Formats: sequence, C-alpha cells, structure tokens
Amino acid sequence: MSKEFDILVIGGGPGGYVAAIRAAQLGFKVGCCESNPYADPKGEPRLGGTCLNVGCIPSKALLHTSHLFEEAAHAFAGQGIEIGAPKIDVPKMLARKNGIVDQLTGGIKALFRKNKVAFLPGHGAFIARTASGWSLNVGNEKVEAGQVIVATGSKARHLPNVRIDNKIVCDNVGALDIDTVPKKLAIIGAGVIGLEMGSVWRRLGAEVAILEAAPGFLPTADADIAREAFKIFTKQGLAIHTGVKIGEIKAGKKGAAIAYVDKDGKPAHLDADQLIVSVGRIPNTEGLNAGAVGLKFTERGQIDVDEHCKTNLPGVWAIGDVVRGPMLAHKAMEEAVMVAEIIAGQAGYANLDAIPGVIYTTPEIAWVGKTEQQLKEAGVDYKAGKIPFLANGRALGIGAPEGFVKMLADARSDRILGVHIIGAGASDLIAEAAVALEFAAASEDLARICHAHPTLAEAVHEAALACDKRALHF
Ligand code: FAD
Ligand code: NAI
Repeated sequence: MSKEFDILVIGGGPGGYVAAIRAAQLGFKVGCCESNPYADPKGEPRLGGTCLNVGCIPSKALLHTSHLFEEAAHAFAGQGIEIGAPKIDVPKMLARKNGIVDQLTGGIKALFRKNKVAFLPGHGAFIARTASGWSLNVGNEKVEAGQVIVATGSKARHLPNVRIDNKIVCDNVGALDIDTVPKKLAIIGAGVIGLEMGSVWRRLGAEVAILEAAPGFLPTADADIAREAFKIFTKQGLAIHTGVKIGEIKAGKKGAAIAYVDKDGKPAHLDADQLIVSVGRIPNTEGLNAGAVGLKFTERGQIDVDEHCKTNLPGVWAIGDVVRGPMLAHKAMEEAVMVAEIIAGQAGYANLDAIPGVIYTTPEIAWVGKTEQQLKEAGVDYKAGKIPFLANGRALGIGAPEGFVKMLADARSDRILGVHIIGAGASDLIAEAAVALEFAAASEDLARICHAHPTLAEAVHEAALACDKRALHF
C-alpha cells in the first residue's frame, strides 16, 4: 500500500518546510521527506535543511559569540569596563550553537505536527507520472502525490583534487565545528561564507588569510560598499588576497599547504592549521531520478523554472537553492509560500528584485535592489543620498561609527531603486528599504516618515533626505 498525498515536498529546508506548512494551512494533505545525515536524538533526519543545520543559524550563533569576545577584548576598556583579557571556551561555544540548532530543528517537527504535515524520513525520488499525478519512492516506501514540490537545496562546491575531510580541510559543515582556535586559518573564496567564518576565527585570535580568485572584492555588491568593506576588514586583520590562482593543495593530519599564484603572477604559498573551502554552492539534484522523468535543467544544473517556480513537468514545482536566483533562505521561503498559494488557486507572488542580501560581519553589510554600477550599465538616470554613521548619534553611542547608508533613486520619478548599507544593525535596517521597494516608494516618502530618535534607522531617513540634497545632520 502506498501513501497518498495531495502534495509531496522533497526536502525539509527553509523552502521545503515552509511550502509544506503553507500548503497544509491551505487545506492540502501534505507529506515532506528529508534524508540528510544530521540525525536528531530519535535517529531521524533533522528538518531545517542547510539553513538550520549547517548554514544560517549555526554561523550566526558563532558570529555572535565571537563578536561578544571581541567586544570584551577590545571595546569594553574604552567604555570604562575593566575585565582583563577574556578567554574563549570553544567547546562551550559549539555546545551553545548546537543547542540552538537542536531547538530550532525540533521546533519544525513540532510545527509539522501542529499543521498536520506528515514527516517522511527518507530520500525522495521520482518513479513515473500517473493518471492523477506522480508516483515516487521515499526511502523504501512508495508514495503517490497529485503535485510535487522539489526543494532539494544546494551543497558546497568543492575544488577538483581537494579532498574535504571536514577536520583539516573543511567546507561549511566542518567550518562550523572547528573545535580549537587555529593559529593560522586559510580560506579559499572571499564570498559570504569566507568573510563570515573568517571573521569568527579572526575575532577569536586566529591569523586568517583569504585567497580569492576574482580580481575585485565582493564584485556583486555596490562598489562603494565593497571598497569600504575591504578597507575595514583589512584593518581588522583579515588578509584578503584577490586575483589569485589556486595551485596544489597538500593536506596532512597537522595542516594544509596551499600553493597559489598571486595577482602579479608570482608563485606564493600559505601554510595553515586548517583550510576552509568556500567557493560557492551547487544545486542538489542527486538521486532524484529527475532526468528519467524528463525534468528540465539549466546549463548550470539548476532545475529550470518560470517566474512561478513551475517546471516543464505538469504538477512539478521547484523552489529555493535548487533553482535560479540568490541562494538565500528567505528567498526559498518566499517561493515556498508562492507555490503553495498558486496550487491553491491563489495569486502567489515572489519578487526576486526585492530580495535583501546580508553579510553578518562587523560591520554588517546589507542591500536590496540595484547597485550603482547596475544602474550605470542600464543607462538609468539616478540620484544618490549617502550618510555616514559617524553623523548618527546612536551609532556613536553604541561605539559603531563605521560605515554608511547609500540610497539610489530614479532621477525623474524619485522611486527608490536600491539601498546599500554597511554598518551596525544593517541586517535589520534593510527591512525598511525592502518595504519601500515593494511599495514602490519614492525617497521623498521615506524622507517624510518620522523615524524614532536616537536610532540607527535615522541614517536611512537622512539618506532619503540626502537624495534631495537636504540632509539635516550631515
Ligand atoms: P536546503 O536548506 O539546502 O534544504 C534542502 C534539503 O533537502 C536538505 O536538508 C537536503 O538534505 C534535502 N534533500 C535533498 N535531496 C533530497 C531528496 N532527494 N530527498 C529528501 N531530501 C532531500 N541564507 C540566508 O538567507 N541567510 C544566512 O545567513 C545564510 N547563511 C548561510 C551560511 C552558510 C554557512 C551556508 C552554507 C548557507 C547560508 N545561507 C544563508 C543559505 C541558506 O542556507 C540556503 O539558501 C537555504 O538553506 C536554502 O533553502 P532550501 O530549502 O532551498 O535548501
Ligand atoms: P559565494 O558565492 O558567496 O563566494 C564564493 C567566492 O569564492 C567568490 O568570491 C568566488 O569568486 C570565489 N571563488 C570561486 N572559485 C574560486 C577558486 N577556485 N579560488 C578562489 N576563489 C574562488 O559562496 P560561499 O561563500 O561559498 O557561500 C555560498 C552561498 O551560501 C552564498 O552565495 C549565499 O547564497 C549563501 N550564504 C549566505 C549567507 C548570508 O546570507 N549571510 C552566509 C553564507 C552563505
């Protein structure tokens, strides 16, 4: 006897679990399968996908602990707090992080029970199309589903000939479980993971060197922000080498030796106790049997979908990291809700032009909408308002005067086209900008809205005023 569902969701990450919950709320009989190796105390795969198990949540927990450590080591004395040199207990830091992962992943199972989503531990794979939908395998069980939502996510891209043991040479999984502060840490890839994990271990005392293949730093961020970030991170002690070509990597029990060619074409090398390889992620479609049922892929190996996440197969949808667009948890969740609502006959919507991006370094970096270079390339006539946090009383009060808010608005219509922030609290401040973009607000709209004083959000307000060259405090 096979199990029958209106909708089967394959994958229990932010895309999959949200799709399952929303579809159940809309009255469908929903199953969600998950096959990761991160077992809970019952021996079942944990829900939450990359994000909760080996991504967003554990990395932010480590970033917070290491931030507090750095504040205690370097910022307290300046405010008159004398505590001596702080010590870090790495196993305790990891245990706290693991506790948060336990709590949240277990919480999703509780949400499944509350919403009557059937959790199916096991790997999902297509078998064939049927008269009423699809038949699939989940582990050893047969499942029939009217519709299928594929939310199988992504996995770390590895470099050829570099074996990841997640002890000495780590991808994101091992990087979140390093159990002593390395004396020297090498990172390949100065992207989001490289900067976040590099920050964690630099703050805790490691000497961190990041090797980046691209000639520039953070090339997809607004160029002003990237320049400022490079200056600040370098001053903090991250050694960032751009324009390198990685050569042979030798790893043993005690460390790794990385040969590379530097940006001037000179051979160079780096010895490190540990190496993190963070060179991007690739869509995860292994073992889905998708090719056999005719699911179409893009040239980059993503499942090919339209703007509503519909695939080429009837009743098959795909969302999150496994499809085009930024690989971000909140983007996956937006698509999840959209697909569930479209299946229910509602007008689901996900606007990929208003997905905020955040890098949780100190200072934080956050943006939404177009960069200045994108507007220039598109020939858009724009105006800009830029306000440094140095002119913001709250930023000085909390000892975080670095960075700025930059707002870009259409020169004629005044519609906000992009907001770019580097500074304390950027991850929260960007929410206002995302709302403004979704409501097609003009910079004047934000300029006319009262912002509480003293807050960091006043810098966003001032940037809106600055678009019209009438900033009041700068
Ligand atoms: P995933 O979270 O990858 O989930 C897919 C799930 O499907 C996995 O659990 C997998 O085991 C399962 N699966 C795959 N195939 C099958 C199958 N055939 N059968 C059953 N199950 C299957 N994003 C942010 O927005 N903010 C952050 O701060 C952030 N930090 C990150 C930090 C790190 C270190 C990493 C690696 C990523 C981070 N991300 C962050 C990205 C974020 O984790 C992903 O964008 C998000 O998890 C994508 O969700 P998803 O549901 O599409 O896929
Ligand atoms: P990334 O795409 O952010 O950065 C990868 C970097 O590696 C790029 O700068 C790239 O030029 C470089 N690179 C690629 N090949 C290389 C090579 N051979 N040698 C040297 N450098 C090379 O990818 P990353 O950091 O691995 O993160 C993966 C994804 O996970 C991110 O793109 C993001 O979607 C998500 N993520 C999001 C976070 C957030 O929202 N705060 C945090 C961490 C990850």
